[in-house]
Amino acid sequence: MALAVNFHDRLAHDDSASLRDEVLAGFAAGPKRLAPKFFYDRRGSELFEQITRLPEYYLTRTEEGILASAADDIADRLGRDVTLVELGSGASRKVRLLLEALRPARYLGIDISRDFLLSSTQRLADDYPWLNVHALHADFSHPLALPRPLDDGRPVAFFPGSSIGNFTPNEARIFLRNLHRLLPRGGGLLIGVDLAKDPRILEAAYNDSAGVTAAFNLNLLQRIRRELDTDLDPSRFRHHAFYNEAQSRIEMHLLSTRPQTVRVEGRRFMFRDGESLHTENSCKYSIDAFRELAGSSGFRPAALWTDPQQWFSVHYLTRE
Ligand code: AVJ
Repeated sequence: MALAVNFHDRLAHDDSASLRDEVLAGFAAGPKRLAPKFFYDRRGSELFEQITRLPEYYLTRTEEGILASAADDIADRLGRDVTLVELGSGASRKVRLLLEALRPARYLGIDISRDFLLSSTQRLADDYPWLNVHALHADFSHPLALPRPLDDGRPVAFFPGSSIGNFTPNEARIFLRNLHRLLPRGGGLLIGVDLAKDPRILEAAYNDSAGVTAAFNLNLLQRIRRELDTDLDPSRFRHHAFYNEAQSRIEMHLLSTRPQTVRVEGRRFMFRDGESLHTENSCKYSIDAFRELAGSSGFRPAALWTDPQQWFSVHYLTRE
């Protein structure tokens, strides 16, 4: 029997309209940029799933190892009667590692990609018939309120994958303050954070030998071609990812391989030879640096789980 998912829609505009606005603004900016949330159309979400299985991309398997081995301990720490709110729920694979141990009262998945959100929450509802499943189609990079039936109980936000690393520390502080406002006192945040380490390990994770990360980055340009009126030619750009040690972050860029003019929606943009379109930051933290950041947004460190190599961290923070 297919159990119903309670669907709440907060994105009235379609994804292509915001892509258009942000491409026009980001291509006109100096340096040129585009937000990483646009990676995740259907093709980009598939490529990201492939990334998570690459030998060089240690993040997903390390975090899943931590969640699987600490599940009972995490459940004890979070307690009973939790409303588990997953931010950027994507394929919702990680949360499955917690559900049996935690037995939350409700689950709410939030994602910007409507199709992905609907299929993954439906699969959760099918596989866990005892679970009360809700889906919220929303962009959580903007301030957000929980849908009415969910604002009681004790919400714990679950933000795995080190997606917090897409924000700069200042942006992360603003994001965490918004989250703090969303959660009632007694709520909490279970968050996965990638740790700073040997730059060679970091750079290999974003320059895999199979070229999947390059394809993921370049898919952004293919998406623009698919969804907007443009003469943009993705073959005239190349993937570039490196560790910026001073800022403690991986940066991904698309570099123009020649001087060129690109027309998008009736506007023209010049690219110099080698000019960058900055597509992603992936910030890496020490345990202390992340705790300090979270503390400045009103969260108190309550528990921490890591892997033996200390490559990845899962923090439980309570809302003060
Ligand atoms: C999903 C943002 C955590 O930064 O590692 C993977 C995205 N980009 N490879 C990351 C990503 C290139 C990923 N996050």
